[in-house]
Amino acid sequence: MEATNRVAPTAKTPALILESDEDSMAKVVLSLHQGLLVAFPTETVYGLGADAGNEEAVASIFAAKGRPSYNPLIIHVKDLATAQLYGHFDHHALKLAAHFWPGPLTLVVPRLDNIPLSPLVSAGLSTIALRVPANKIAGALLEAFDGPVAAPSANRSGLLSPTEAEHVEEMLGDQVSLILDGGPCEGGIESTIIGFEGNIPVLLRPGILPVEQVEAIIGIRLQMPLKDAEPSAIPFVVTAPGQLTSHYAPRAHLRLNAVSAFEGELMLAFGPDAPKGQPGVNLSPVGDLAEAAANLYAYLHLLDDTGVETIAVMPIPQEGVGVAINDRLNRAAAPRPVGSNGNEQS
Ligand code: TXA
Ligand code: MG
Repeated sequence: MEATNRVAPTAKTPALILESDEDSMAKVVLSLHQGLLVAFPTETVYGLGADAGNEEAVASIFAAKGRPSYNPLIIHVKDLATAQLYGHFDHHALKLAAHFWPGPLTLVVPRLDNIPLSPLVSAGLSTIALRVPANKIAGALLEAFDGPVAAPSANRSGLLSPTEAEHVEEMLGDQVSLILDGGPCEGGIESTIIGFEGNIPVLLRPGILPVEQVEAIIGIRLQMPLKDAEPSAIPFVVTAPGQLTSHYAPRAHLRLNAVSAFEGELMLAFGPDAPKGQPGVNLSPVGDLAEAAANLYAYLHLLDDTGVETIAVMPIPQEGVGVAINDRLNRAAAPRPVGSNGNEQS
């Protein structure tokens, strides 16, 4: 099947948005072997992928995103057996991987010695972040490439994560060789990241997989990086470098806990109690948190693209995936240092 080139003719190096089929998969694999960057869908957000064994290719991820080199990357692999070539899995990690992979869970485990991966992926840490995505296209890519793919979310560092191929094209269209189109990501928020302090599981980033589900499998409560903190106050990744709060930020400012929009604002509403007749969008008119998560970044992109100055955001229940939604909203609303986008994570 022919590739559909939907890139604006003015783009410096035209990226290709490809429908996912055998032909485009072969092109993606070739690009990875050539050390180029490819964007692909996962069940959470789109990833910006490179061959994790290729130092230059991995370095170009950091350059393309404007990401500080001290912020490590997630390695995507096709299955647990492959993950075990790179990291050490203790009984908790094994249990979680066996239960949730493929799926939206990233495990940060001790990195094995002398593995054939670019040292850049771990940014000098003794641990490695590993994930087996459930998305069919991502799975087919990892099968076809048959090697580890380093992939952060396919956005400029600190900006909104992409949940559609067009979001990637907008932000990184001139940096990637190909964008594999899988339509909107079903989850819409990044994976949940679990690390280990000794053998105690720690929540490093709330994500689309609710903490309660993780705890039910390991039979113990996840340790919070901040003692006695409310879940919404959890720092993004406590053992990772780069802990500035501001992240996932649209250009517009967010006004949280809004009950209605002030003049000139647009509303990011939630649930059936949203005020009627207000300009804006509703993340889930029926009040479904999974639907709200799936829509979150896409709706923020949509509202931001109008050029509005302030987005008024209704409260989201702090339960289940609502914890991750609130985490992202709090970071998007956080103050940004003058003269930069203030974001050091991605
Ligand atoms: O859903 C996801 O996880 C998406 C898709 C593409 O897989 N990826 C993603 O990657 O969100 P990224 O780079 O945007 O976020 C990964 C986070 C970063 O904040 C990084 O600091 C953390 O994972 N991380 C990576 N390696 C780590 C390590 N060894 N220790 C602690 N944190 C780590
Ligand atoms: Mg990211």
